Amino acid sequence: MNRPRRDDRTVCRRRFLQFLAGSPLLALSGPAWLGDLLEAAETPGEVPGGSIITSPGEAINVFDLEAAAREKLPPAHFGYLSTGVDDDATLRANRAGFSKFQIRPRRLVDVANVDTSVELFGTTWKSPIVLAPAASQRAFHPDGEVAAARAAGAKGHLMILSTGATVSVEDVRAAHGGPIWFQLYPTDTWRIGQALVKRAEAAGCPVLVLTVDLPAGRNTETERRFARTDTRQCSGCHALGFPGYVRRKPMFDGLDVTGVGLFSPRLTWDAVRRLKHTTKMKLVLKGIETREDAELCLRHGVDGIIVSNHGGRAEESGRSTIECLPEIVDGVQRRIPILVDSGFRRGTDVFKALALGARAICIGRPYLWGLGAFGQPGVERALEILTREFELMMRHAGVTSLAKLDRSFIVDGRRT
Ligand SMILES: Cc1cc2nc3c(=O)[nH]c(=O)nc-3n(C[C@H](O)[C@H](O)[C@H](O)COP(=O)(O)O)c2cc1C
Repeated sequence: MNRPRRDDRTVCRRRFLQFLAGSPLLALSGPAWLGDLLEAAETPGEVPGGSIITSPGEAINVFDLEAAAREKLPPAHFGYLSTGVDDDATLRANRAGFSKFQIRPRRLVDVANVDTSVELFGTTWKSPIVLAPAASQRAFHPDGEVAAARAAGAKGHLMILSTGATVSVEDVRAAHGGPIWFQLYPTDTWRIGQALVKRAEAAGCPVLVLTVDLPAGRNTETERRFARTDTRQCSGCHALGFPGYVRRKPMFDGLDVTGVGLFSPRLTWDAVRRLKHTTKMKLVLKGIETREDAELCLRHGVDGIIVSNHGGRAEESGRSTIECLPEIVDGVQRRIPILVDSGFRRGTDVFKALALGARAICIGRPYLWGLGAFGQPGVERALEILTREFELMMRHAGVTSLAKLDRSFIVDGRRT
């Protein structure tokens, strides 16, 4: 029997999922994974007729890149990229949160020229859109972090490199061409964390980003469901447990990782103090979601904050980061720069966050979709699309530079 063509299979799968979703049995409390699969099946990027884009230039929005990445990547790797935790409720909340804030555009302003440049710790970047740290990028494309870095460097964007990168900090720094920041999982062993910090510093990273939102692992059910549908033998590339994890992670080369764990349940403000004394790099904390913790950042001499829930991949708080942002901005009172990530997919999302007081925003999945679909040109396309959308929104709102963006451009729909 002939197998249906891939395009036909996509359409059949979508229809089947739509049928299931419409079933009265599932209508009230359908399982979350059904919603996720349905959402994935309905992602734009399938041009009429059901085919997927075949070149980066065809992507109209970043979701088109998602569809192309889903088509190209092995299921287990796409599952790792897409997953949230538990019911993926925080993942969805991150998107829904943006609709709670509306934009107040101003008219009759000369917007022929708009300047999106932003200064972060003494370096001026062409754009406030930053590549968030993401581990294991060679799981998405053979060029991995090098492709992402070349794209970011070529287009004037900052990149933050993950501890779990599959290319070394030295090589990524060279591929980018400018100063990249290094994200630290300090592990549960100070000797290892210290070695990682020293190496990043020696490679010329001006900023260390300490991720604080994963003290105890996580429950990534969507990832596990996708992995079940993958027929390949994963242990050929990476084994379970920490030694298996670091096998293809060059930042750990030469380090004795016997008995070491990636996440540390004992990470406290003491570690922050210790890191401040260990390195000359600026210290930014990633994963802050409350005003209380933002104020503690100030008390501990932290130099910057990334408001983040790890793209809905850490705890299932159910709260979007765009909703966390205002209380943190109020607590910090402009004393240190605030960045924010999780769920940014549109130029209007970027506009809202900057108007609410963020200095810059980070994206994770959108550039990883581009990477998985097309390598460096795919990452460049994701950045182009978001930049074009953001600049368009600036023009529509009558804003000619980031310094002119403030809360007067936003209606907080949660209060009206
Ligand atoms: C595949 C993947 C790997 C990630 N790896 C890391 C990591 O190693 N360190 C880290 O701090 N955050 C990591 N993150 C979280 C991102 O830095 C960022 O917080 C998140 O992706 C932003 O949400 P978004 O994907 O909705 O844009 C990862 C995210 C993804 C999707």
